[in-house]
Amino acid sequence: MSRQSVLLYRKIPAEQLERLRQEHEVVEVYDHGEAGRQAFLATLPQARGLIGSGVEIDESMLDRAPHLRVISSISVGVDHYPLAALNRRSIVLCHTPDVLTESVADLLFGMVIATSRRMFEMARMVREGRWRQSLESADYGWDVHGKTLGIIGYGRIGRAVAQRAALGFGMPVLYHTRRPVDSGLPANAARAVELDELLAQSDFVVVMVPLTEQTRGMIGPQALAKMKRGSILINAARGPIVQEPALLDALDSGHLRAAGLDVFAVEPLPLDSRLRDHPRVLALPHMGSATHETRTAMADMAVSNLLSVLRGDPPLAAFPTA
Ligand code: DGY
Repeated sequence: MSRQSVLLYRKIPAEQLERLRQEHEVVEVYDHGEAGRQAFLATLPQARGLIGSGVEIDESMLDRAPHLRVISSISVGVDHYPLAALNRRSIVLCHTPDVLTESVADLLFGMVIATSRRMFEMARMVREGRWRQSLESADYGWDVHGKTLGIIGYGRIGRAVAQRAALGFGMPVLYHTRRPVDSGLPANAARAVELDELLAQSDFVVVMVPLTEQTRGMIGPQALAKMKRGSILINAARGPIVQEPALLDALDSGHLRAAGLDVFAVEPLPLDSRLRDHPRVLALPHMGSATHETRTAMADMAVSNLLSVLRGDPPLAAFPTA
């Protein structure tokens, strides 16, 4: 089998890089600034495979890549690829589901606890030397166990969050999906409901839908107004699903108690974003899958996906582009 040109645009562990190099010529471009962009574009005319994440691939890039056969995304989400254009050109799109499910669910549940128990505010109090006496009621948080958790989008990650909530914390779970799915939990532990009921009944609303034209902006002023007063919004899916100005209004008015956000409309979060230092926002740097174990597993899967397609074999996980 002939060696092909592969563009790697995200760092991966040495062992995975070696697997790529054994079969192909690997061009590495990790700089996502202007110089990196030019290097990226210059490599496209020869590229048979792309592997990476964090770069928006548009159709004009595909125009420059006439030999491209596969894009192997080191992510489960595929919102930054032009699906229809990939389909028209018969370019296979691969991604990395499953291997990150439990890590992202861990982080989501950590955000539930950290926001409700005000862990980040209290940690800041200690760090800044403002802990001078026993806590008073103004400093108290709110219990997590026994509260109602609503999950919008009940795929692999939503289900893993539901298991933590229902089985570990005795929380009634509500979930909303477009198509009926089994909850994977004992019958009385979780209930499928309409979105409005979920918003009205949940103490925590966890957003776990993919970003599509249907979900973009779905958590806006109306949805936020339907949420229970004093509830908490958690988003670790994609930033543009939540309308950030409306979220800030809901926090400032006291309608929402807090928000835990691992994703933003613009990433990295701009320095002038009010979400960065809002006292009741836990803002994290898109770190849901960022553990050593999981990122290694994702890189491993992405490399296997790419190698399989270039060998003419079925990949572990192709994303349907049709
Ligand atoms: C994913 O895998 O989609 C995560 O959000 C990281 O981008």
